[in-house]
Amino acid sequence: MIEPLDIAPLTATSTTLSPLLAVRNIEVVYDDVILVLRGLSLEVPKGAIVALLGANGAGKSTALKAISGLLKTEDGEVTRGEIVFDSERIDGIDPDKIVRRGIFQVMEGRRIVADMTSLENLKLGAFTRRDREVDADIEMVFSYFPRLKERTGLAGYLSGGEQQMLAIGRALMARPKMILMDEPSMGLSPLLVKEVFAIIKQINRDLGVTILLVEQNARAALSVASHGYIMEQGKVVLDGTADALRNNEDVKEFYLGGAGDQRKSFKNLKSFKRRKRWL
Ligand SMILES: Nc1ncnc2c1ncn2[C@@H]1O[C@H](COP(=O)(O)OP(=O)(O)OP(=O)(O)O)[C@@H](O)[C@H]1O
Ligand SMILES: [Mg+2]
Repeated sequence: MIEPLDIAPLTATSTTLSPLLAVRNIEVVYDDVILVLRGLSLEVPKGAIVALLGANGAGKSTALKAISGLLKTEDGEVTRGEIVFDSERIDGIDPDKIVRRGIFQVMEGRRIVADMTSLENLKLGAFTRRDREVDADIEMVFSYFPRLKERTGLAGYLSGGEQQMLAIGRALMARPKMILMDEPSMGLSPLLVKEVFAIIKQINRDLGVTILLVEQNARAALSVASHGYIMEQGKVVLDGTADALRNNEDVKEFYLGGAGDQRKSFKNLKSFKRRKRWL
């Protein structure tokens, strides 16, 4: 079994400690010219689940890739600001070194290796490890996701939900301090979203793994997170406790379906935004 990390239970005081992850005023540019993050700042306390919410194209995945170092593979670069993890700067460091420092990203769209079995995918997740407890951790992953143990064929034939579970299980195999999850709800039925998020919460509680959760499904994300940030056009426009965000009228309207689902027409939406930008 993974040993619980030495993490104090999340209490009101834990946010006053120095955060495990601090993103400070970063700018990200793709291909030397496309400015996508424009002074993004956020903090994730040790042991917490923090949600990063926002509409399509807000820059959520870019923010995660900036943290995990995967920007480099897409010709992106952090050109300003800093990213501090566990009291050390990590911006500009190679992605495999960032994994070794304890951050593992579960990519959008799951990205498991389709022509390998679940077991082989899980072993791949342990690539940075030299210890002898890999087998025990595989059993632990199977205990969270029993379905994965039953499906012994190639991972490419797993259902969407099972692939999501495998992607999360593979992240656990790295014994990370922190997991970055990019839209775990994507493509899942409401029932499965509930199931996957309940397991995310359970993993956070049992193992003390800190989680930064990117989601368009604000309702699901805020049901497990203690704190949330809302991004628009490359920066944070609103943040607060999950409760405060759930009760915020603008958040309700834009991200939680609103009262009576009065979806605005695009024209109205534009004028609404002019009046109510969170800037
Ligand atoms: N590799 C890239 N090269 C150039 N531009 C990119 C690249 N990746 C993303 N972008 C641009 O950066 C912006 C933010 O994209 P990003 O994928 O971070 O948004 P997102 O918030 O994750 O959106 P979604 O909810 O649709 O996943 C978009 O305008 C996108 O076109
Ligand atoms: Mg994205």
